This record gives sequence, structure tokens and C-alpha cells, in this order.
Amino acid sequence: TNPKIVIAIDGHSSCGKSTVAKELAKALGYIYLDSGAMYRAVTLFALKNGLAANGQVNEPELIARLPEITIEFRLNPASRQNETYLNGENVEEEIRRLPVSTHVSPVATIREVREATVKQQQAMGKNKGIVMDGRDIGTAVFPEAELKIFMTASPEVRAQRRYDELIGKGQQVSFEEILHNVEERDRIDSGREVSPLRKADDALILDNSYLNRDEQLDWALQKAREVIRNLGVVNIE
Ligand code: CDP
Ligand code: CDP
Repeated sequence: TNPKIVIAIDGHSSCGKSTVAKELAKALGYIYLDSGAMYRAVTLFALKNGLAANGQVNEPELIARLPEITIEFRLNPASRQNETYLNGENVEEEIRRLPVSTHVSPVATIREVREATVKQQQAMGKNKGIVMDGRDIGTAVFPEAELKIFMTASPEVRAQRRYDELIGKGQQVSFEEILHNVEERDRIDSGREVSPLRKADDALILDNSYLNRDEQLDWALQKAREVIRNLGVVNIE
């Protein structure tokens, strides 16, 4: 059988990381893990418990209550997708809404929050055969990942993609507030002290501003197969 690898996909907000990561995992028979969903679930907990509002987060109180938070991924047999559970409740839909999006980047700057989520992510990837997407997967979670991809696209393209998606789901949003959120999160994610968003030195860049979903999947799948093939080659000398 082919050796299994870890694939780390990092990059800016809303450029298509989870889309390509899911399709890649499906094509390779790997697990897909959305690390952003974990930061979003912690943020939802903060919002529900009055620890975040109006763009502000009560850091000390949230840190104190971290032991109360359990995040799990459970397979939905109908959609064959993993869904996010916060303390036993399915929050997959709620964590994608704008109130969570506007508070998640400040929450994700908190060192204790990152330590707890990274530990869980590393445990889920210990048997390899996983595709994980986020901001610090190639730099902090799996610095030894066999394949690292850094995705990007222009802010306008990304905001348009996210806008189309949310409008398609019936949410009431404006293009301007989405663009603002995308740019604001990029700024906070890149500027924070603990594992900021940056390209790992050994990551391949995928700018998909002008690629559709099929084209970006073809690109990524070819890179993955190359790495797997090269690992499978045993040199006898
Ligand atoms: O899908 P989208 O790009 O909008 O965001 P996401 O992947 O769901 O991540 C939401 C937020 O979580 C990001 O803006 C980051 O602030 C944070 N995050 C992080 O800090 N580290 C990760 N590995 C993943 C997400
Ligand atoms: O995970 P991330 O925030 O990076 O982005 P995503 O949720 O995978 O993608 C954001 C939206 O862009 C989704 O609605 C995708 O279907 C769409 N997309 C696209 O239109 N063209 C691409 N080449 C990639 C993604």
C-alpha cells in the first residue's frame, strides 16, 4: 500500500482552502480536518456566554473557562461530511455566521486557546492520512508535513466567493461587510504574536484567483501524488 502523508493547507481567509482540502481528502481516502472550525467553536462559546461582544473578547474569563469546552467532529452519514460539535451540540451552521466571523480572529490570538486546539489537532493527525487546513498548520501544527500548500487570491475575489456562498445560504449580508471582515481577519491573523499566518519556507504557493475548483484540485492532487510516489520509492544501493 502507498505510504500515507500529512497535507497542510494554509492561507488567507475565504480563498478556497476547505474546498480543495475536502476534495483532496476524498480523492486520496484521507481524513479532512477543518482547524478553523475549532477556533470558531471556541468563539461561539464565548459569544453564548457573554465573553465576547461588539468586537471585544474577555480574555481572562475565556481562558478560565476553556476546561468547559469540548469540541468534536462527527460524521454526518447523509452528507458524508464531518460536522462540528460544541459540548455535544451540532454547531456546524452557526459557526459560519457573521457574528462568529467578526470575533474569531481576536479569540485566535489567545495563546491558551491555540495551545489547546493545536494539541487536539496534532492528536488527530498522528496516524497521518490527513488533510488539514488553517493558518498555522505547516508552520506550527505539522512542521514536518510531507506536503504544504499556501493558498491565496486577491481580497476582492475572496470576498466575492464568500459573499456568493452566504447569499446562496439565504444569509442577509452586504459585499462591503464581507470584504471588510476578510481584510480585517487577514490583518489580525498575520500580525498576531503566536503562530501568525505566514507561508512556511517549504510550502508551495497556489494563487487560485483565476482557477476554478476543478483546476485547483488537479494542481493539488498532482503535487500530492508526486510526494506519495517519491516516498514509495526505495533506493537500494
Ligand atoms: O474559512 P475562513 O478562511 O473564513 O476561516 P476559517 O478557516 O474558518 O478560520 C477562522 C479564523 O480562525 C481565522 O480567521 C483565524 O483567525 C483562525 N484560525 C487560526 O488562527 N488558525 C488556524 N489554524 C485556523 C483558523
Ligand atoms: O476555506 P476557505 O475559507 O479558504 O475557503 P472555502 O470556504 O473553501 O471557499 C470559499 C468559497 O469560494 C466557497 O464557496 C467555494 O466554493 C468558492 N471557491 C470558488 O468559487 N473558486 C475556487 N477556485 C475555490 C473556491
